[in-house]
Amino acid sequence: MVNYSTHAATSADAPGIVRLLAQIPTWQESNVSRWREDLEQYEQYGLRARRGGWLIESGGAAITVLTVEWKSPRTIAGRIWPVYLEYLVTDEKHRSSGHGSRLVRYAVQELARRDCRGVYLKVFKGDDGWSGALRFWEGHGWTAHSRLATDTHVLMTKEIVPAHPASGSSAIGR
Ligand SMILES: CC(C)(COP(=O)(O)OP(=O)(O)OC[C@H]1O[C@@H](n2cnc3c(N)ncnc32)[C@H](O)[C@@H]1OP(=O)(O)O)[C@@H](O)C(=O)NCCC(=O)NCCS
Repeated sequence: MVNYSTHAATSADAPGIVRLLAQIPTWQESNVSRWREDLEQYEQYGLRARRGGWLIESGGAAITVLTVEWKSPRTIAGRIWPVYLEYLVTDEKHRSSGHGSRLVRYAVQELARRDCRGVYLKVFKGDDGWSGALRFWEGHGWTAHSRLATDTHVLMTKEIVPAHPASGSSAIGR
């Protein structure tokens, strides 16, 4: 039986993350040390870091990654969405097995646990299968803001119900 583990990304995961992100044709940033530094910041400072992510691993290899920018708030449709989900990618050999869906659900639970109220992302029209990506996110309860679409991308948002609405300074977006 294959064992999968799902966890927050650490600096040791930087090479595996970059290997997966390189499978996105439009992805530019192949700098492993920059990812390692950002993830070290996350290990040290948690949500005060610039970015982080979550991974599914099997046999020590990263097979799905979802990366997040903690401090990129954006106003969309009249409200602030504090967190930006940047990249989701599953290794080509492991697609269509539910890993992407599982990691998105995991990330949303993690954000709820950290009192995050909402999250946004961009689906890029230049990417292969972008209309499939729209359906993928809509299937996970995300809203496409088609009226705000640009030539390059469609914005999508998801409201999150915080798990601990009254908690303190570790919350996102305060
Ligand atoms: C999008 C992606 C992460 C989904 O990962 P996954 O582990 O295969 O996800 P799941 O198995 O949970 O769901 C698969 C479904 O995703 C949907 N999907 C979403 N975006 C897709 C895309 N760009 N290409 C193909 N399928 C996509 C399909 O409907 C697919 O359904 P199918 O298996 O019936 O064909 C994966 O296809 C991928 O890495 N694509 C390349 C990177 C990319 O385009 N990322 C941007 C997403 S906004």
